[in-house]
Amino acid sequence: MTEDEVRTAMAGIGPDISSADRDKIVERVATSAKNIVKLRQELFIKADAPVSYPFLWDIAQRDYVQWNGLGGNGGLGPLGRNTGEVIGVFGSLDWHEGKRFSITSLLTGQGWTKKVVEYDSSINTQNLRRIENQLTELQSPKWPQDILGKLDQTRIKRGEKLFANYCVSCHAEIDRSSPQRRVVAHMSKLEEVGTDPTMADNSIKYEGYSGILRNQYVGAGVGDVLLDKKAPIAALLTKATLGVVTTPDADKGFIRRWSEWLHNIFQALFSNEIKDSNKHGNYNPDTTMTPYSSLQAYKGRSLNGIWATGPYLHNGSVPTLYDLLLPVCQAEQKDAECRPEKFMVGSREFDAEKVGMKSTGYEGFVFDTRLNGNRNTGHDYGTKPAKGAGDLPMLTKEQRLDLLEYLKDQ
Ligand code: HEC
Repeated sequence: MTEDEVRTAMAGIGPDISSADRDKIVERVATSAKNIVKLRQELFIKADAPVSYPFLWDIAQRDYVQWNGLGGNGGLGPLGRNTGEVIGVFGSLDWHEGKRFSITSLLTGQGWTKKVVEYDSSINTQNLRRIENQLTELQSPKWPQDILGKLDQTRIKRGEKLFANYCVSCHAEIDRSSPQRRVVAHMSKLEEVGTDPTMADNSIKYEGYSGILRNQYVGAGVGDVLLDKKAPIAALLTKATLGVVTTPDADKGFIRRWSEWLHNIFQALFSNEIKDSNKHGNYNPDTTMTPYSSLQAYKGRSLNGIWATGPYLHNGSVPTLYDLLLPVCQAEQKDAECRPEKFMVGSREFDAEKVGMKSTGYEGFVFDTRLNGNRNTGHDYGTKPAKGAGDLPMLTKEQRLDLLEYLKDQ
């Protein structure tokens, strides 16, 4: 924009930009399609880290749900997680200054007298809670031998031993049908697991303007963060989520609004058997200086039902389980068996041999692992020759097939 354009857009707007001012500026600037595109590029952060949709079973039994361990699953955690998701994906949220003191302003720590921020949104927390409740009963599927082929018990026995040596330290086994089961996430920091870092890095490196949320406090694990002019998106999202959860649905009549709201909060709090707990694994802990550094990690967890969930890894960069047990090859090893550099996604046909979705022979779109965010590197357990005395050797082809058979049976 030229200086003149900036002056016109900012005319009559004071140093503290209110939500009404914000709308006015956007209206003045977005006068042509070209300007709208420019504005978008300024305002929105590029989406460059695709994440594979996670499976839903055992959600209610986990300590941490998201790939990078964002937000615990205890107490109001699930309601917060689902609300945050809707804010990020489908919902509309208009936070703006209000004059009135309310329960929300009290619960979000905004004090009694000054202007408060109100969080009007399209988010229906009651329905989110109901959907989450339904998942409590869900169990992972077993390999259907009558449809996908009989499992080889001799291979499974051998595979089980390999799993115990190579894998179980990060992927604990659980009883899929026990109502008391708990699924513990085993976090591995990026340097350790070596998979594409973009998603986890984005989650802590993105910053945004706080706008009217400036000078408010947000709880992080190791203490409160004071929102400055610019603040980590993780902190802003936490603040917005808390605001939405503590705001009763404005579309409903007074009595219904408040009784449903109270019921929701109580239900969400007291029906959740998961309590907040420290993370397991090998990760960089949060500190007062870096309150979000534990999020630069990905989670290993129980692999029950894993056969039905390809493509694999947080970014879906490996089409089948068999491929995950192969190395990523350099140009000079082109004859070796390697994880595919490019493959088709979009098929609904199951590949019972390599275990995943078929990735050739149909119209889909190409997943290119050479792009940032799409990398298929890392998680090289069993895929590289031993270097030191304590290292486990690279799996042979027969061992890979044994382990694969075992994974089918999970
Ligand atoms: C040191 C910890 C660790 C060890 C050992 C380990 N894994 Fe993992 N595993 C992880 C982490 C962390 C992830 C998630 C990585 C990501 O998505 O970027 C993962 C992901 C996976 C996935 C993909 C899950 C999904 O939903 O896409 C499978 C399958 C898997 N591991 C199988 C194995 C097998 C088989 C072994 C043994 C050969 C093994 N792992 C050894 C930590 C480990």
